[in-house]
Amino acid sequence: MSLPERYARWREAFDVAARSSLRPDMAILDVGAGRHPTIPIAARPARCAYVGLDLSAAELADAPRGSYDEGVVSDVVAFRPELADRFDLALSMMVFEHVRPLPAALDNIHAYLRPGGALVALTSGTFAPFALANRLLPAGLSRAIQKTLLGKNPATIFPAHYDRCWDSALRKALANWGEVQVIPLYLGATYLNFAPPLRSVYLLYEEWTRRGDHRNLASHYVLHAKKAGSVRAETEPGIASESRKAGEV
Ligand SMILES: C[S@@+](CC[C@H](N)C(=O)[O-])C[C@H]1O[C@@H](n2cnc3c(N)ncnc32)[C@H](O)[C@@H]1O
Repeated sequence: MSLPERYARWREAFDVAARSSLRPDMAILDVGAGRHPTIPIAARPARCAYVGLDLSAAELADAPRGSYDEGVVSDVVAFRPELADRFDLALSMMVFEHVRPLPAALDNIHAYLRPGGALVALTSGTFAPFALANRLLPAGLSRAIQKTLLGKNPATIFPAHYDRCWDSALRKALANWGEVQVIPLYLGATYLNFAPPLRSVYLLYEEWTRRGDHRNLASHYVLHAKKAGSVRAETEPGIASESRKAGEV
């Protein structure tokens, strides 16, 4: 069974949400930006300030030259007063599943945004079968499987906790924000590309969760949350297409 068409558009909901906030002269915080900034330099709004925050100085250093106007080496769970009230947009791509406790990180990001600022994030879901397997298996075995069966570069495998990464828990953690959208995505099959028959069975399960709107079981979520207040200026359309391959979530 081939992958449903939504797999080719895996980043669409994230990009639509991020694009709605882009405008010249803005300040963007990329949380867990690492070696791969969420918006490449060429696609950024004019004169924007782009700050990369990451637990790992080495990951930030591996990003393409000039990716960050400022790098902040920190756990997003630790509050950094110098970041408070500075940003119009916070982005985070495939990071929240690595963060524990997630509500503390979301509260910090809320404090780093100016009134009217937005968070746009994409995270894996706690109850996706690959996430459950990742938590159940010993770390060494999980890394070995990801390396050999999924072909992942071991340097890009980080410990994952999936803390409160499901629909109702995410909504609860974002309850103090002004406007909140939690968009479920059903994209877990690529983890089974090494076993086509198993992938076909998985796709039947995923179709059941999707059609039944069992949101807490989604494989991924896009979070789009706005801090109460009003933004400073008009928006500017346009994130150029991303370098990551389709389905590579
Ligand atoms: C899977 S990588 C994603 C990197 C990049 N956002 C991307 O799209 O390729 C996860 C990144 O989150 C960072 N990270 C993990 N836990 C973190 C935390 N608690 N605070 C800040 N960064 C964290 C890791 O160091 C790593 O760079």
